[in-house]
Amino acid sequence: MGKEMRLDKYLADMGKGTRSQIKEAARKGRIQINGEITKKADTKVNVETDTIVYDGSVVSYVTMEYYMLNKPQGVVSATEDHKYQTVIDLIDGKNRKDLFPVGRLDIDTEGLLLITNDGPLAHRLLAPKKHVDKIYYAVCEGHVPDSTVLEFADGILLPDGLKCLPASLEILNKTEDEGRKITEIKLTIREGKFHQVKRMMEAVGCPVMFLKRLTMGPLTLDESLKPGEYRSLTEEELEWLNDL
Ligand code: URA
Repeated sequence: MGKEMRLDKYLADMGKGTRSQIKEAARKGRIQINGEITKKADTKVNVETDTIVYDGSVVSYVTMEYYMLNKPQGVVSATEDHKYQTVIDLIDGKNRKDLFPVGRLDIDTEGLLLITNDGPLAHRLLAPKKHVDKIYYAVCEGHVPDSTVLEFADGILLPDGLKCLPASLEILNKTEDEGRKITEIKLTIREGKFHQVKRMMEAVGCPVMFLKRLTMGPLTLDESLKPGEYRSLTEEELEWLNDL
């Protein structure tokens, strides 16, 4: 015995419209259950065994979806926005209408963002007490002093009063680009305060010019994903997340 639900809820959950739009579609004969047209949107269907066809295409019922997105710049980490494209708009293959990004990256930040409708998982990844590590790659202005590594390891106090938890800074490269000093870094933080990486680097006089998230807990950005591309999580990645 599988799970039963109303046909209109089934199709609404899968993003096929509002319940009243689905009722209308049913009245017009656009919906079939197991090969038979049904005109009643309140018909009970079995999500595991019944085949639902909407406008000629099979619609499977998916309860949970998990995507790894390489967030591009210029897109907001929100489900809706009146001005900008959102990270959810980028997930063309989605079934569910209740997807959301787990945490936020700034509009000009790139990199790893998990998109799901799994609320408890999001909570496990974001709960401050869980201290899930996030690794960022950044290009900063100026040459970051080596002493910053120890300061960050102790936990710095930002000028605006925020006391940061200990963070691990790796200085990758100090170079010059057209006469301008720049430093490439990797920074591992356990918190996710608003603009945290930018505020930390600003506090040591080396503002961030480019920022990309590489990891979040057990997840590592798949380097084959170009900015704007995404893929479903693998079974292995899902197991890692379930162990959190
Ligand atoms: N820290 C920031 O400053 N910005 C981000 O997008 C993520 C971390």
